[in-house]
Amino acid sequence: MATETNNKSHISPPCILVIFGAAGDLTKRKLVPALYNLRKENLLPESFAIIGVARAEMNDEEFRRRLRDDMNEFATEKVEAEVWDWIAQRLFYLWGDFNDEQTFANLKDALEKVDRESDTRGNYCFYLATAPQYFASVVQKLGAAGLTKEGKDHWRRVVIEKPFGSDLKSAQKLNRDIRRVLKEDQIYRIDHYLGKETVQNILIFRFGNGIFEPIWNRSYIDCVQITAADKVGVEQRGGYYEQAGALRDMVPNHLLQLVTLTAMEPPVSFKANAVRDEQAKVLHAIQCPSPEEADRRTIRGQYDAGMIDGESAPPYRSEPNVAPDSSVETFVALKILIDNWRWSDVPFYLRTGKRLAARDTEIAIKFKRAPFMLFRDSPVDRLSSNRLVLHIQPDEGISLRFGAKEPGPILKIGAVDMDFDYEDYFGDVPSTGYERLLHDCMMGDATLFQRADQVEAGWAVVAPIQEAWANAPPPNFPSYKAGTWGPQEADELLAKDGRAWEQTHDIRKSEPHAAAGA
Ligand code: BG6
Repeated sequence: MATETNNKSHISPPCILVIFGAAGDLTKRKLVPALYNLRKENLLPESFAIIGVARAEMNDEEFRRRLRDDMNEFATEKVEAEVWDWIAQRLFYLWGDFNDEQTFANLKDALEKVDRESDTRGNYCFYLATAPQYFASVVQKLGAAGLTKEGKDHWRRVVIEKPFGSDLKSAQKLNRDIRRVLKEDQIYRIDHYLGKETVQNILIFRFGNGIFEPIWNRSYIDCVQITAADKVGVEQRGGYYEQAGALRDMVPNHLLQLVTLTAMEPPVSFKANAVRDEQAKVLHAIQCPSPEEADRRTIRGQYDAGMIDGESAPPYRSEPNVAPDSSVETFVALKILIDNWRWSDVPFYLRTGKRLAARDTEIAIKFKRAPFMLFRDSPVDRLSSNRLVLHIQPDEGISLRFGAKEPGPILKIGAVDMDFDYEDYFGDVPSTGYERLLHDCMMGDATLFQRADQVEAGWAVVAPIQEAWANAPPPNFPSYKAGTWGPQEADELLAKDGRAWEQTHDIRKSEPHAAAGA
């Protein structure tokens, strides 16, 4: 299948991208490789420059050399000299402390100079790839230096990374602080899940096809299960994770993005606010239980030592920068209910964790069973229900499970999977997941970014859980072995409702075609 685009009309306008935290992980792993890919696709304008700001002492040349070396490790394909040179010529570096006003005075000078020389027309995009404690103060200092003021002919935008706050109150405060300096349409709160092709495809799948929407509701759907499983542990991020835990790290942001895209009503257009209004409505419709009830609907766990891919994995408590008696959760499973006409009584089960049995992010939609009249002789439990799985990563695609007659003289129904694999149809398109987000921001399209109300509504969903945990005695951790699917209680959460987690992560790789009675 071939698609043709005229990239010329998609080239972003002239601008300078300023990256705060330019010596950090995000810059080398994602942002610079994404800019490289954008250039390769001819989506960046000639009048373009990047100024990296960080505390490390370096000059422009050292900065370029360092990023070039990093590209060997993090580029999504072999680096072409011509493409890299194009980027390198436009890379500049400024060192300074984010707490120091002088840094911002220096930045102002640097911006004016680069703007003049590169003809970037005064358009600046500030990307805050810093630790979260700097978000408010960097914005305030940018404002004080006069760098956020827009004019008739130029724009100023600020991209803010996750985590946006650590609970509802802190997110509200951060919103208030940055709104003192910026208008809402200058703020691009990023959630990198929305940069994933398969996440964006949820909307196309639902609203670009006529056949699914009529059955996408409580009359036909039994439950929705969303899994975001990591095989890796907390790696070198123990310090951050000890503050965050699985709930804060994944639920109010990434997992609720998947919930809103799955559950939202069709927007009136694909304009940013039309889409975000519908997403926000879903968040507001999520039932807000009492802390006690929230606790009953939530399971947390922490990994112990175990085996993953034949190798032994250490317990969370002995990871670097983790307290030996830590009670931070590395796994969370929860049930949420959406109180609206489409979803009333359809549970959404979410789970996420570190050191689980597989790396797998997916949305499984389980449909209600067919009535049994025709198959009186088939044992009831051999009739499986239809199931649609949106595989977000790593094996992107969509599969639909339905019942088929197994060959033979005796009537037997087997479950089979019809499978669409992204790579088979579209080939392997190298991507970091940040290309679309960076490009959209430079184009001024905020559809895939979070509005203030969405971020706050996400935190409001987890607030009762945070409250319940804060008041509960320390949990009995560790509670699951590395390399499993989390604590047993997570299975019981569904078993109470007469359901089980759909184990689907390997259907596309290893399962035989007919999984009879599955
Ligand atoms: C990050 C979390 O935001 O998302 C990580 O902090 C998590 O803990 C990651 O592993 C998952 O993103 P991806 O793109 O690797 O699935």
